[in-house]
Parts: sequence; structure tokens; C-alpha cells
Amino acid sequence: MHKLPIVILISGRGSNMQAILEQAAQGELGVDIRAVISNRPDAEGLQTAAAAGITTAIVDHRDYADREQYDQALRVAIDSYQPALVVLAGFMRILTPAFVQHYQGRLINIHPSLLPAFRGLNTHQRALDAGVSEHGASVHYVTEELDGGPVVAQFRVPVLDDDTAASLGARVLKIEHHLYPTVIGWIATGRLRYRNGMAYLDDQPLLTPVSVSDSRSEHIQ
Ligand code: GAR
Repeated sequence: MHKLPIVILISGRGSNMQAILEQAAQGELGVDIRAVISNRPDAEGLQTAAAAGITTAIVDHRDYADREQYDQALRVAIDSYQPALVVLAGFMRILTPAFVQHYQGRLINIHPSLLPAFRGLNTHQRALDAGVSEHGASVHYVTEELDGGPVVAQFRVPVLDDDTAASLGARVLKIEHHLYPTVIGWIATGRLRYRNGMAYLDDQPLLTPVSVSDSRSEHIQ
């Protein structure tokens, strides 16, 4: 079977990356992980990837004068591995329009909230402050708008009365590890595609994100 070549970008712990690596190693995802790239030399996830026998690379943002130059260097590094999909997994940098356009339809991100709620940082504390009863994670195609591209799938978790940002964040992270490989698997099998700014699943436009805890997802998985 042809495997989808992917590159994963991380900035830190890399637990989502690890979840993808583990499922790929079990032969369940249909992806060929060509490399894991970090903007931070000390990212913990780099060691995890190397221990799993995956090629790692560092493109340190501190070595570049501005965002344009950094993103250009990052793009050269990524493209040397010829990926069909670039997976942002806790890659904590704002990307330039030129970078995003270059990878249009081939660049996905996981975000720890039910988008469009709580774009940006500190999503768990903001969810608690807002008093929402449900929170979760979203996988979306990346466009020039920060955390604003078409949302493909979401996983919801309840917010409990005694939650702290840490306990809520831990609950969300756990489901991220299921959600992200699931969506990557859809792309690898050709079920999920991106055309003209829109996501299509099984050739149907995705007008609302798939909720991976509902019956549609049971059907899909
Ligand atoms: C994850 O919760 C991911 O959703 C979030 O960073 C964490 C990375 O954890 N990403 C963002 O906030 C992107 N804006 P990990 O390094 O253990 O995968």
C-alpha cells in the first residue's frame, strides 16, 4: 500500500507526535513519517522521535532575523523530505502567509478548544473562566487566519465542577491523542481532501466538523 509521506512539526513535549508515531508503527495509519522538525533544539519530543528511529531536524527560530526568513528556511527543510502532508503538533509559532499558501490544503493543526471558541493561547483557563459546560479539541486545515481554517473534526469533553486548567487540559490532551491520528488516517486513505478552501469527506463537503464522539464518527472509523 502506498503510504502518505508526512512531516511533523513540534515545539515541545510532542505527545501528539508520539501518538501519531505509535499508531504509524502499528501500521494503522498509512503514513510514512519522513521527519520530525522542531524550532526549539531542546524540544523533548525530538528525543522521543529519535528513539523511535525517526529522522529529526532543528530549524531554530533564534538563528533568523525575522519571521519571513525563518519560514523560508523551515520550508526548505520541510520540502527536502517531500511530504504530501505537514502536521503541526504543538508547533507554537505564527506562520507567515507565504508559508501557509505554499502548503495550502497540505497543512493541518490540532488546537485545544472547540473552534471557533478560544483561538490562541491558554484555552483551558479561558474555557473555565467562560463557564462553558463542554470543551475539547479541534483539527483544522491551516489558512492565513490564526486557528481559523476549515475545522475537520472535534472531540468534546465535559467540564467538571472541580476542574482546574490542569485537570481540564489533561482530559483534552488525552482525547487529542485519539482525534489527531484519526483525522490523519482519513487523509492517508484519501477520504478527506481539501479543495478551494473547503474540506470534503467521502466527496461530501464538510459543512460542520465531524464530532468523533457521535454516531457519524463510529460509522467513519
Ligand atoms: C496540544 O495540546 C496542542 O493542541 C496544543 O499544544 C499542545 C502540544 O502538546 N497546540 C496549540 O495550542 C496550537 N495553538 P504536545 O507537544 O504534547 O503534543
